[in-house]
Amino acid sequence: MIDLARLPKAELHLHIEGTFEPELIFAIAQRNGVKLKYPSVEALRAAYEFTDLQSFLDIYYEGMNVLRSERDYYELATAYLRRAGAQGVRHAEIFFDPQAHTDRGVAFETVIEGLTQALTDARDALGVSSHLIMCFLRDLSAQSAMETLERALPYRDRIVAVGLDSAEIGNPPSKFQAVFDRARAEGFLTVAHAGEEGGPEYIWEALDLLRVSRVDHGVRSLEDPKLVDRLLRQRIPLTVCPLSNVKLRVVADLREHPLKKMLDAGLVATVNSDDPAYFGGYVGENFVQTAAALGLSDAEIVTLARNSIEASFIDDATKRAYLDEIEEAAANAATG
Ligand code: HPA
Ligand code: ZN
Repeated sequence: MIDLARLPKAELHLHIEGTFEPELIFAIAQRNGVKLKYPSVEALRAAYEFTDLQSFLDIYYEGMNVLRSERDYYELATAYLRRAGAQGVRHAEIFFDPQAHTDRGVAFETVIEGLTQALTDARDALGVSSHLIMCFLRDLSAQSAMETLERALPYRDRIVAVGLDSAEIGNPPSKFQAVFDRARAEGFLTVAHAGEEGGPEYIWEALDLLRVSRVDHGVRSLEDPKLVDRLLRQRIPLTVCPLSNVKLRVVADLREHPLKKMLDAGLVATVNSDDPAYFGGYVGENFVQTAAALGLSDAEIVTLARNSIEASFIDDATKRAYLDEIEEAAANAATG
């Protein structure tokens, strides 16, 4: 049997603010003298009952409100990287939402310095490599996104790509075409959340207008056979987040999740945790629970791990080294 939780892999869809565990929220709130709406860790955790994406976003933005100093961001990212490393994550591509911090008066520099120091230290101490992906909040204006892009330009070498997250319906990719044109001209790769709550037309726009290298979620792709053809032809990876989809009621039950059908269709699907502190599991739990619910074979699980490395933005030599580790783990599982 494959050790699912520790199989070497990359995590490609992970919001650093979504790794903020209630214990750490309370510890940092106390240090910063911020009063929380909830009286205890238990009361906060008990509020994690979501009915859709917006009901989650409300509590997600409230939690991150306690983050103020470089040290806070450093501790947040370090806690994630330790947990991910213990679950076989060799490489992480980490989203952050600068507008959710700068709009509260935290300097862009504070956020990026705290995060990058954590990423550098984790590479040295844990051997986990990582990249940052800067997301624009799509429910804010295109102008605010453009200003955020301009603020990021001095840190161009620390951010591999730009992305799009927050409330999807009513905020299609087309709203951000000019921002993404500028980002690509400045040398950033592009990704976008699409086809989580929004339909296949959002995925078409992400491909055609934003020229994304990957689609985040994309679970509604199968509704459109022409779109599936396009994703196959271009081998566009999809960063799927099964436990997130259940918690936000994108799917009714994990046993009904389309991941296996996506693999059967030949799509380059990957498994990720999205916001693990809120959705009941890190990437290891996503692998374990999804494999059990859908009856995935060892071969399918190894495909998911391989896909995560192939879909990442690391150089080919590093990809090769991580892929070799996966083959070794798979061979050991077959003989052991
Ligand atoms: N969807 C959109 N925006 C988000 C998410 C998500 O799953 N997580 C954090 N911001
Ligand atoms: Zn997400």
